[in-house]
Amino acid sequence: MSRFTDKVVLITGGGSGLGRAAAIRVASEGAKLALVDISEQGLEASKAAILDAIPGAEVFTTTADVSSEADTDAYVAATIERFGRIDGFFNNAGIEGRQNLTEDFGAAEFERVIAINLRGVFLGLEKVLKVMREQGSGYVVNTASVGGIRGVGNQSGYAAAKHGVVGLTRNSAIEYGQFGVRINAIAPGAIWTPMVENSMRQLDAEHPEKAAEQFIQINPTKRYGQPEEIAAVVAFLLSDDASYINAAVVPIDGGQSAKY
Ligand SMILES: NC(=O)c1ccc[n+]([C@@H]2O[C@H](COP(=O)([O-])OP(=O)(O)OC[C@H]3O[C@@H](n4cnc5c(N)ncnc54)[C@H](O)[C@@H]3O)[C@@H](O)[C@H]2O)c1
Repeated sequence: MSRFTDKVVLITGGGSGLGRAAAIRVASEGAKLALVDISEQGLEASKAAILDAIPGAEVFTTTADVSSEADTDAYVAATIERFGRIDGFFNNAGIEGRQNLTEDFGAAEFERVIAINLRGVFLGLEKVLKVMREQGSGYVVNTASVGGIRGVGNQSGYAAAKHGVVGLTRNSAIEYGQFGVRINAIAPGAIWTPMVENSMRQLDAEHPEKAAEQFIQINPTKRYGQPEEIAAVVAFLLSDDASYINAAVVPIDGGQSAKY
């Protein structure tokens, strides 16, 4: 299947986890990639993994902090300079932030998480949607979370940001449908990536594997999702196969968010 032949896909948070898996998936279907991350090392590792899986894939990388407007202008401009267009945008970079009670969360930590997970997503939309409107086409997937549609607890900054990402998705989607641009969000549950591994260390620094085992028992499938299972849905939403899906928030969580 080559749904992305001659298509340019821009991915933030492309240096790890879900961003890397999505990059491999769309590149395997012919996409030219622009990967953005704050971690140069992560980008290099992603590029190596992509070229290993798809020899000859076209992979452009650029470091940026998605919470910075200047960096966002720069990564969008660099992508346009390299490829001339943006067909798909996986607006995905994010951090988990600290886990604790609201009264202990702290305004500085709240602002840090909001800056990356919400302002960063807004800035990406602001700059990329202009390009897509001028092209008259383009598909966007924003990464929300189950924590953006349900209360999880102990995650003030993350919950506020991810609920905000759902709001941004719906708002921009109804604006841009008329321009041939579709915008959707994914709401992953517990997917086994470095972020979740780190989360387990926050829950139990001494026995993170025990915390991980216990944490997943409430999931109907009794297992963690794999990044490739997210990548398949992202690729679908960024392709013409999803041509009438707009403003949707798609849970990818083994059914956990439906559970009482
Ligand atoms: N893994 C899960 O279970 C899960 C569940 C729900 C939502 N998510 C969301 O998925 C997205 C990707 O998470 P992941 O699990 O792949 O985590 P990850 O930590 O493996 O990858 C996140 C990437 O984002 C990059 N990043 C962080 N801050 C950045 C910044 N300021 N500018 C640019 N890049 C930055 C990191 O360097 C890293 O490469 C995040 O938005 C996260 O909130 C993940």
